[in-house]
Amino acid sequence: MERLQKILAHAGVASRRKCEELITAGKVAVNGVTVTELGAKADPARDVITVSGRRIGAERKLYLMMNKPKGVITSVRDPQGRPVVTDYLKNVKERVYPVGRLDYDTEGLLLLTNDGDLANRLTHPRHHVPKTYHATVERVPHGSDLEKLAHGIRLEDGMTAPAEVEYVDVDPDGKFATISITIREGRNRQVRRMFEAIRHPVIRLKRVAFGGVTLDNLQRGKYRALTPEELDALRRAADATAESR
Ligand code: URA
Repeated sequence: MERLQKILAHAGVASRRKCEELITAGKVAVNGVTVTELGAKADPARDVITVSGRRIGAERKLYLMMNKPKGVITSVRDPQGRPVVTDYLKNVKERVYPVGRLDYDTEGLLLLTNDGDLANRLTHPRHHVPKTYHATVERVPHGSDLEKLAHGIRLEDGMTAPAEVEYVDVDPDGKFATISITIREGRNRQVRRMFEAIRHPVIRLKRVAFGGVTLDNLQRGKYRALTPEELDALRRAADATAESR
């Protein structure tokens, strides 16, 4: 929920001061009811807000999840002409943007939306939204090494925050292992650097969950709209973590 004058200003109606004047002049309605107090709040994603009868922010909000293949840039365009994630979208007229980044070589769950406010809350470092990766690494790390990753390990840009780490799969010949790791930060190449720090370089990296939403069996290169339940989970993840700042 946000103050009405802030919502109106963000939607490009006018300056915040001018929007306050529109409210006190009785020009603004929320879900059909005229609002004249300046303290009033609304939810721009759910409420129908009108100014002189015209709906604001009417562009449909779209929330997609994609299974990004490796070898694709998390961007809407690439100056060098390499494939970008939005190349995979068909018949999507809204201008959606990726929520955060996955490396060129990383695959898996990527959210795309035109809801800039939710995207910011999900990616802001202070909001600590959990992201789970399956990292397939060289050889089989010792439990004590995984504990180091769980407690926090020193990287060149400082200690990492606590993480949840567990074995998913172990090669009987000891050549590789797949480890699930959940982090609440988003530093550059963080998961790869964490495993490098314990001398088990990452062979393959896939994100399987983000803020309570999981990739499940979405095929590589495919995308779909989030369900209302998934969107609620995502909003809760962004809000709950915001409170514990
Ligand atoms: N950590 C990485 O190393 N790469 C990613 O793409 C995401 C997290």
